[in-house]
Parts: sequence; C-alpha cells; structure tokens
Amino acid sequence: MWYCVEFVTVITGLVIALASYFYMQSRRRPNLQQSMEQFKGQPRLPKFAVPKRYDIRLKPDLSACKFSGSVAIELNIVADTRFIVLNAAELSVDTTSVSFTHSSNSKVLRPSKVDVVEEDEILVLEFADTLLIGMGLLTIRFQGTLNDKMKGFYASTYNHNGEKKNMAVTQFEPADARRCFPCWDEPACKAMFKITLDVPSKLVALSNMPIIEEKVDGDLKTVSYQESPLMSTYLVAIVVGLFDYVEHLTSYGVKVRVYCQVGKVNQAKFALGVAVRTLELYKDYFEVPYSLPKLDMVAIPDFAFGAMENYGLVTFRETALLYDDQHSAATNKQRVVIVVAHELAHQWFGNLVTMEWWTHLWLNEGFATWVSYLAADNLFPEWKVWTQFLDDYTEGLRLDGLAESHPIEVEINHTREIDEIFDAISYKKGASVIRMLQSYLGAECFQRSLASYIKKFACSNAKTEDLWAALEEGSDEPVNKLMNSWTRQKGYPVITVEVKDQKLVFEQSQFLASGSHGDGQWIVPITLCCGSYDVCMNFLLESKTGTLDMKEFLSDKSNLASAWVKLNVNQTGFYRVKYDEDLAARLQHAIENKHLSATDRYGILDDSFALCMARQQSLNSLLTLMGAYREELEYTVLFNLINISYKVERIAADATPELLEYFKQFFISLFLHLEDKLGWEPRTGESHLDAMLRGEVLTALAVFGHDLTLKEAIRRFHAFLDDRNTPVLHPDIRKAAYVAVMREVSTSNRFGYESLLRVYRETDLSQEKTRVLSSLTSSPDPNIILEALNFLLSSEVRPQDAVLGLSVSREGRETAWTWLKDNWEHISKIWGSGYLITRFVNSIVSPFASFEKAEEIEEFFASRTKSKISRTLKQSIERVHINANWVQSVQNEEHLAKALKGLVLGKV
Ligand code: BES
Ligand code: ZN
Repeated sequence: MWYCVEFVTVITGLVIALASYFYMQSRRRPNLQQSMEQFKGQPRLPKFAVPKRYDIRLKPDLSACKFSGSVAIELNIVADTRFIVLNAAELSVDTTSVSFTHSSNSKVLRPSKVDVVEEDEILVLEFADTLLIGMGLLTIRFQGTLNDKMKGFYASTYNHNGEKKNMAVTQFEPADARRCFPCWDEPACKAMFKITLDVPSKLVALSNMPIIEEKVDGDLKTVSYQESPLMSTYLVAIVVGLFDYVEHLTSYGVKVRVYCQVGKVNQAKFALGVAVRTLELYKDYFEVPYSLPKLDMVAIPDFAFGAMENYGLVTFRETALLYDDQHSAATNKQRVVIVVAHELAHQWFGNLVTMEWWTHLWLNEGFATWVSYLAADNLFPEWKVWTQFLDDYTEGLRLDGLAESHPIEVEINHTREIDEIFDAISYKKGASVIRMLQSYLGAECFQRSLASYIKKFACSNAKTEDLWAALEEGSDEPVNKLMNSWTRQKGYPVITVEVKDQKLVFEQSQFLASGSHGDGQWIVPITLCCGSYDVCMNFLLESKTGTLDMKEFLSDKSNLASAWVKLNVNQTGFYRVKYDEDLAARLQHAIENKHLSATDRYGILDDSFALCMARQQSLNSLLTLMGAYREELEYTVLFNLINISYKVERIAADATPELLEYFKQFFISLFLHLEDKLGWEPRTGESHLDAMLRGEVLTALAVFGHDLTLKEAIRRFHAFLDDRNTPVLHPDIRKAAYVAVMREVSTSNRFGYESLLRVYRETDLSQEKTRVLSSLTSSPDPNIILEALNFLLSSEVRPQDAVLGLSVSREGRETAWTWLKDNWEHISKIWGSGYLITRFVNSIVSPFASFEKAEEIEEFFASRTKSKISRTLKQSIERVHINANWVQSVQNEEHLAKALKGLVLGKV
C-alpha cells in the first residue's frame, strides 16, 4: 500500500513535471516560431511589450534640415517573445546602437536582426532568445530629415531681418511621431516622456513640459524638460525657432504664453486673454483643472491644419491664433476664439482622456467642436454662436446625406485610412449628436456625467461606449441604445409629418441626397412646438412610424387646423423634416410673420433646400420659400440663404441658362435691402454679427453682379491701394471688394488682378494673404483663372495656403479641372502625403453636374487613386451625380420660368 502511495506520488510528480514542461513548451513554441513576416501588414502593433517611459534626445540641424537623436525606452515585456516591434518611418536607424537590457539581470542584449519595414512603418528587432518577462530598457540611435511636408519633424520657414530662416516643428497626429523617433505610435500606448534638445543657443526651444535645465555651451545649448505625465505619442511636440511671446497666469497658477514671430506680439494678446479665460471655464465645467504646469500656444508659418492640441504646446496656423486690431476682420476674431477653445478642450478631451483607437476619433474631435461653442458662447454671448453652430450641423448633414458617408465610429485597418476621417462626420456630425444628446438629457445632468467620465478615465483611454455608460449612469436614460443608432450606422432620417384628423402622423426613412431612401432606422428624439414656443412636447420615435393625438396636447392658443407645427425645435436633432403641403405653407406664413426663432428659420430653409436637391420638392417651391426671407436680418440665417443662393445659381446656369439673369435678379432682391441697412463702413456700437453680415452681403451682391455694388467696391479698392490704412475699406468688407474687383478682371483688363497680387506681396498679415488668395480665382475669365491657379503652385504661396484658392468661379470650373489633371503629378508630390490633397479633389470635382463628367473624372483617377483620397473621390463623384440629376429635374420642371419671373417682379 505504502509502495502504492509512493508510486502514485512519484508518477503524479512526473506527470506534473512533464505537463508543466510541455505546457511551457507549448506556450513558448508558437512564439519561438514567430517570424518577422507575421508582423507585416497588421493594423496594430503586437502587444508583447508595453512602453512606460521614453527618454528622448534630439539634435536638429536647422540649416542642413537634418536631425539626429537617441531614445531610451523603458518597457515591460508582458508575453514570451523574441521580438520587439515598434513604429519607425523615414528614419535611418543605427543598427549597431540597438540594445535591450533586462532590468532583472542587467544583461545587455543585441538584436540578431534589425528589420526596417518601410511599407508598414515598423521596426522589428529580433533577438536570439526569448526575452524575460518584466521591465527592460531599449536604446536606439537614429537620424532623420527635417522634411517639408508639414508632418513628423519638419522645417517651416520665416523671415527675420530680411533673411529667410528655418524653424523646426513637429506635427505627430495622427501617426507621425514615428517619423521623429522610434515609438509605440498608437493612442492607447500612453507613456511618460522626458525630452532633451540640443539646439542653437539663440533660439527658443519649446516642448510639452517646462524647462528644468538649460546648459549653454557657445553657440549650442542643451535644454532639458520636466518629465510629462502619461500621454500618447501623437501629442508629443517640439518647436525650435526665433519667437517673441506674451504671457499671463490663470487664477489657478497655470502659466499661459502665446508665441509669435518677432514683432507681432500685439497680435498675440487677444488669443492670450481668450486662452486664460477658457482654461478657467473648462476647469469648472470638467471639474478638473488643466493638468500641466504651463500652456504654450505657438503660431507656425507652415502648418497643415488649423491647429494642433499637443499637450501643453498647442501649435496653430497664424490665421487661427493672431488677431490684428487694425487689419483683422470680425470673422477672423471669431475663428481665433473657436480654434483656441477647440484645442484647449482637447487638453481634457483627447489629452487627459484619450480615445482607445482611431475608430473613436470622433470622441476627440466631435467633442472639442461642441465644447468650443460652449466656451465661445460663454465668453462672447452677444455673438450667438449656438445659432452659428448650425453651419457645422448643416455641413454634417450634407456629407452624411451621401451614400459614400461613413458611420461616426469607423473601422480603421491601416494608418493610411486615418487622415480621411478628420472630416465633417467626425467633427460636425459628432458635435451635432452630442448637442442632440445634451438637449435630450438636460445641460446640468450632461455636465455632471461628463465630469465623472473625465475623472474616471483621466490619464487613460476610453471608447465611445465608456462615454455612454457614464452618461447612462448619470441620467438613468438608455443612452447607449439611443446613441448607438447614431454612431454605429451612417446617415440620418428624414421625418415626414402630416396632419390627419387632429392627429400628427410621423414616418422616418433614411435621407439620401441622391433622392433614394436607405434602409437605416434610428431612435429619434422628436421635439415639436405648435402655434407657440409655449406649446411644446417631445418623445422618442423608436419605430418607423408614430402618431400623436393633438387634442389633449393643444391649448386654446393653438389649433391644429391652422397653427404652425415646427418639428425639431431649434434644430437640436440630427435629422431633416418633410412637412405636408399644408404644414409647409403654415410655416412659411409663420416665417413671414416673424413667429419663429432664428434657428428654426434656418432649419426650415436648409431642409427645404436639401429636399429640393434630392428632387423631393420643386425648385419653384424652394424659391418661393426663399422669398419669405425678404426681411430676414439674422446673420446665420442669411449666411445660409446666401450659400444656398450660390448653389442654386450654379445649378440654374447648367439647367436653364436662359433664366440665369432672373435668378441673379431674384437673389439680388433678397439681399439689397441689407446693403442699405448696413452700409459700407462700421456703425458705432454695431454688433459683431452685423459686422460679419456686411461682408457676406456685399460679397453676394458682387457675385450676382449687382452693378452699383461692383462700382462702389472698386472705388473703395482704389482708395485702399493708395492707402492701406484707409477707413473706406474696413477688413470686414475687404474680401467682398476683392471678389468684386476680380469679377471685373479679364485678359484685357488685368489691373485688379495685378493689384491684388501687390496687396498679397506687401502684407505680412496672414489673414490678409488668405483674403486675397480666396478671391483670386473669382474672375469669370478662364485665362485669368488659370493664371491664378498657377500662382497657387508658385513659390510665393506656402503649400498650406494653396488650397484656399481652389473655390473657383462658376465660369472657371472646366479650367480648374484641366489644370488639376495637368498638374496632378506635381500636386500629388507636394500634398499627396497629407490630408490637404483631399481638398484639391473635393473643391475641383464636386461642382460639376453631368454624368459624362463624372465618368471622365472616374476614368482619370482609375489608375491614380491612392487610398488617401479614395473616400473623398467617391463622395465627390457622388455629388456630381446628384447635381446632374438635379439639373435634369430642374430642366423638366413646369412653370419654373413663370414662377421665377413672378418672384422677380415681386408677385409672389
Ligand atoms: N487634432 C486636430 C488637428 C488635426 C487634424 C490633426 C487632422 C491631424 C489631422 C485639431 O484639434 C483640430 O481639430 N483642428 C482643426 C481646428 C478646429 C477649430 C476645427 C483644424 O485644424 O481645422
Ligand atoms: Zn480637434
């Protein structure tokens, strides 16, 4: 018996030993069999090693446009592997410098193989033996080029005392930190960063954190920065150049600075004030203070985007940060506020709490967009920015009405696909669905839940469902279910509404700008008012149809047989509404009698325009509705009315050229009274919105060829040429004057064009340059357009600005397309690696309106498409089809000519 027990014990021991041996082998075997190949073509890095802390040293050579550097990365090896795989691109890695030291035994390992896979932007280090689980230190030395592509570590240029100089700047989002140093370049791989720079001693050198030590050694200095808290690689930043700055402390002790070109500090003061106030506001709103000791904001002369929210070191285009009292327009001022507020919102939403993967990019961008309006409204309530938010909302609706749209939460399988999702879906639809949810849950409940989300995920990463969970917990509403219907499928519904025996009958179907219906279905928060803003109600439409008995709901004040019914009150819902004829007529009446709010007036017009374009409503009825806005005074509503007029004019020119003059006269008649009201110069005490409106109205009158406006604009422009400080051409109306001047330019009358180039060359204010560039292609003469387009490609225009001149006049459409084809190779070379290339495609392709053209465009790009523009191209071609169909339906519309002529004569 004893033997038995002994035997059993021995056998059991043996079995256990063998089992654990085989278990260990089985755990090791697949990894020992790992090969380089399996890491290629993967969307994400393998997870064997987790970076904890980077010690980065960089030495940029500004005149040779090169840099050298080294990185020591503390890693945690969390699974058996012989490989370390991380990102690197366009770096020349010194393979002999690569080593890995286990913390446990201090043994220095050299990789048996170092493979740089440029195609996948990864660096694969292969070791002879399996690495030990636990911490270790990876060191790598490398060299790179300060490129001219405005991404990674790049060179930007500026003039100092007449000399052209280089500065070194980083732009890492979405995935270009790997172009500066080898790293785990994914948002979820948060680590601490300790940065040291070797730079010329005369220059300002900035990074995310404050400087802790600066050692000067002759012409060079070594600058070390405090270690950062946990953050993602795409938020690391460095700027080295010559700058001036202004500074101010927040009430809770954060040192805020705005850096600009030497001599421009006066232009930096406005943004500084805005930033300080915004940081204070966000501290209260998110219930967490700004988390770094300092915040620097820098104007960069060459910058691909509007701005970038690098943690503690936000970079901007000059136009989005600098404000000049004398030469900036009201619209420039507002842009500075919105951009600053947006990037500072990211310091919480994005930097402190970061999306887990690019699929959740919208959490960053949609949120920052929404919060920027909250801040701007707080700082400048008289600007009524929430009504202006509707321009973003509408852009979201326009893009999402395409079959080639994408869901807010979008699958990303390759870094190449990331750039294209920084679009109106992530930003504008994203912000709009947040606004919809906030208005459904109530502002206070929304803010509280948001603050608890920020606290819960601080210094880590979150997914969309984490945000919904926090809001669900704070509200007891089914947020997850409700919102999934908006973020996981593309598109949105159009709600048709009809009156049937004292009942309102609703039906939802997916709105498509092409006129067909998709099969999406949503949980729609319906709001409505009837006859008065005091008689409102709301409910969730969860199925395809719904009915509302109005008898109980209606008070004496309103009567369903005659009262107006407005759905989607104040346009907080991300959907369109199609009213039956009777309800539409009542609304038009309510607009004329000024019973509706500006946001509702905006929404009715925009829905009507979209339905008309989708051929669900006649152009005749759209024009009649537009006629109801003859006494409109509100900036935002007019801004949309003007833009809709531009679009209708373009379609009319293709569909019914014989009626074009009538269309123009009709539009002029809508806006002319505003010229009388607003005049050409600022009135004392006038509002910010009137100042912006003046510019829009005069531009529209110039575009539609109103003779007196053109003459007056040109007269004032001449005065301006004689004296750039003349009060007769205020910055608010300069763009209008430039457009007017260009409308008169032709091959035989080049004066206006040459003069504008002079203005461009002589100013050092970026906003002035921008105004000129965006007017330069407004001439109706194709030869001048071609010359202007070629100017955009010249060395006089920074690549960041060339895209500003691509909205060519209606008459220049064909010239622009030929120009794009002729220059495609060059354009791809300069802009092809970034997102700006999409602007070339979209701006030049989308205005066409024929099926033949769509085919020609498809053919041209068939052999040229790169994944960078594939979605944009499909969307642009879809727009051409939509336009083409619209043209056909307008051509077939009966009574259009008669109705239009009636409108022009005022016989509505
Ligand atoms: N994070 C973006 C900048 C960015 C855009 C990086 C695209 C990578 C790709 C930044 O926060 C941003 O959204 N900037 C906007 C300005 C904002 C006010 C809408 C921009 O650059 O247009
Ligand atoms: Zn952003």
